[in-house]
Amino acid sequence: MSGVLGARTAVNPLRQLTIDQLRRRTSLKWREYPDDVLPLWVAEMDVPLAEPVAQAITDAVARGDTGYPAGTAYPQALAEFARRRWGWDGLVVERTALVPDVMHGVVEALRLVTEPGNAVVVNCPVYPPFYESVAHADRRIVEAPLGADLRIDLDTLEDAFRRARAGGRPAAYLLCSPHNPTGVVHSAAELTAVAGLAQRHGVRVIADEIHAPVVARGARFVPYLSVPGAENGLSLMSASKGWNLAGLRGGLLLAGPAAAGDLARVPFGVSVSTSHLGVIAHTAAFRDGGEWLDALLTGLDDNRRLLGALLAEHLPAIRYQPGQATCLAWLDCRALGLGDDPASVFIDRGRVALNSGLAFGTGGVGHVRLNLAAAPEVITEAVRRMASAVS
Ligand SMILES: Cc1ncc(COP(=O)(O)O)c(C=O)c1O
Repeated sequence: MSGVLGARTAVNPLRQLTIDQLRRRTSLKWREYPDDVLPLWVAEMDVPLAEPVAQAITDAVARGDTGYPAGTAYPQALAEFARRRWGWDGLVVERTALVPDVMHGVVEALRLVTEPGNAVVVNCPVYPPFYESVAHADRRIVEAPLGADLRIDLDTLEDAFRRARAGGRPAAYLLCSPHNPTGVVHSAAELTAVAGLAQRHGVRVIADEIHAPVVARGARFVPYLSVPGAENGLSLMSASKGWNLAGLRGGLLLAGPAAAGDLARVPFGVSVSTSHLGVIAHTAAFRDGGEWLDALLTGLDDNRRLLGALLAEHLPAIRYQPGQATCLAWLDCRALGLGDDPASVFIDRGRVALNSGLAFGTGGVGHVRLNLAAAPEVITEAVRRMASAVS
């Protein structure tokens, strides 16, 4: 076990903290439920902070460097990360804006390209705050459910684009790439088709790419702005999910070449609301956190396999199609006969907290989302508890 301040070696960060250490945390994952509940819900990870990140913010605190954010170190670090990891050299620092976090960035992006009352298309089931944030921004959701294979269904998407644009009103498509909760990584062909459809129907694409760093090495993340036809697209990126930095907030809004004018309308007050310490942390993660991230990705791969094996043995009625990204697993529990909300049964009878699928929109009934960013022993215990809840 290492201390909680920083893992010095690239050993699996998911194996470094004990449950007792984790239970001393004061964040949402660990404080929402009593101590007899095993929490595998909100997308926080049971990892120590990556050493380069811990060092960067410790140094900043020592300097008293806690003012407003300045400069372009964050987008520069992301541009270099994008070049190294995804072979993408199209991230232009001048076409980026700091945003306080990804969901605030999504709302800002919606304000740039739509008006109140306009439609926003989403691929349900999807990250629940998409619904809440769209409603809060006075826009309305149009659902384009994923196909049975959990991938984007282009016919359904096109139909949703038509409905969203009825009467010629502006509309946006909030793409989740990679997709939360399924962990699906959209292919270059799919994204190119999406861009073509969006162009044809005059829909503006806003890609939430917060999970982009958390993609298994066997898969290839394709940045939306890198595909042909995406020139007027917008994207949100962040180190938040890759390095567990939700407590050190900071996102980047990226614009394609034809969206630069929109980006220029992001108010200074929005960008300057980003946490300076967050910017320092995210910059360090993208610049120096690659080794740590690789160790995490290996650990998540192992956990995906472990979960598949455990479910096959103890809960074979649950359908699980492992994704290649995110720390999340989307479980179809309908065959268990636990009703619309199996998460409520798992917590009441099994004392294990998962996300209820109901909040993820159409397609979420009878499903739960399980957070894989935990030690293998915790995953094993979670499945044991789930199995005990149904026996
Ligand atoms: C798809 C997606 N977008 C946004 C967020 C939240 O990002 P932030 O905390 O930067 O607003 C999450 C968190 O899990 C997410 O899964």
